[in-house]
Amino acid sequence: MAATILVTGATGRLGQRVVSRLLQKQANVRVLTRRREDALKLWGDRLEISEGNFSDPASLKEAARGVDAVFLLSPIGETLAADQNAVIDAALSAGVSRIVKISGSDWTIESAARSISGTAHAQVEAHLAGSGIAYTALRPNAWMQVALEPVVTALRNGEDVPARFGDAAVSFIDADDIADVAVHALTAGVPLAGPLVLTGGETLTALEIARIAARILYRPVGVSHKAAPALPPHAGAFEQQAIGEFGQLIGDGLAASVTDTVHQITGRQPRSVEAYLRARLAATTPTGDHSEGEKTWR
Ligand SMILES: NC(=O)c1ccc[n+]([C@@H]2O[C@H](COP(=O)([O-])OP(=O)(O)OC[C@H]3O[C@@H](n4cnc5c(N)ncnc54)[C@H](OP(=O)(O)O)[C@@H]3O)[C@@H](O)[C@H]2O)c1
Repeated sequence: MAATILVTGATGRLGQRVVSRLLQKQANVRVLTRRREDALKLWGDRLEISEGNFSDPASLKEAARGVDAVFLLSPIGETLAADQNAVIDAALSAGVSRIVKISGSDWTIESAARSISGTAHAQVEAHLAGSGIAYTALRPNAWMQVALEPVVTALRNGEDVPARFGDAAVSFIDADDIADVAVHALTAGVPLAGPLVLTGGETLTALEIARIAARILYRPVGVSHKAAPALPPHAGAFEQQAIGEFGQLIGDGLAASVTDTVHQITGRQPRSVEAYLRARLAATTPTGDHSEGEKTWR
């Protein structure tokens, strides 16, 4: 019988990308969600819906029953470590054999003293290491779908590129590349050793992004240094602090490294910022697809 894969965070930005790839591969997919109706609208009967909540251990136990592999993702917040550790504990009792975790960016974990989010993800990685379950931690750099959305909005408004991170260069990664690697890690014959540090294929400053935008839009595009971090609506104190810390660490140049991991695992080069901006600027609706633009702050 084909393996059953439980996807947490399935209705979110990255989770939806992971689910659609798993369904294309004819995998048996079960999603954990608090919103059954929304999951039904997204996938109908193409997968199993397990209604539950990270804060409800019984629902996690039910979701993990009969599962072979778990995709582990939860949003940034003060319960991140407790929520993800609870999923790991449920997976352990259910005899799950593999977990693929979306962790924090490598530089948040390596600079955990300066990042509450990095500290929380590091706690989960430590719990995974102690669990005895085979696991792969993926540490993606800043996602284009989040970090470049303020750039897309500004360009659509005829404005310059906001330089939220000063003159620092960043190797932004496309969430589709993260999803490709995650699905490979979930379905490969042998679990992949980690942590895997995932980045885009190039490192770009705001000025270099402005040059790319000028090429796409056939108009002069400069850089604006007035950019302020855009917080999501209802961001709690944890998120606000985490987002402020991301800005400082990225501004210090810590998100500029480029790794070859996406290429090594998928056999092709990572998607580029130019391709991402071309697609987003050509989109007829402001949000372009299912969720881009709703959170423009990480
Ligand atoms: N953005 C970046 O640049 C970046 C970089 C590195 C790492 N990351 C990591 O990526 C993760 C965020 O991914 P994302 O943007 O794809 O998330 P997202 O779009 O915010 O999705 C969050 C998901 O979590 C689920 N969820 C929230 N609370 C829940 C609860 N109490 N019980 C069960 N499910 C719950 C939601 O499901 P329902 O609403 O359906 O229940 C939703 O599917 C974070 O861990 C972050 O640290 C992000």
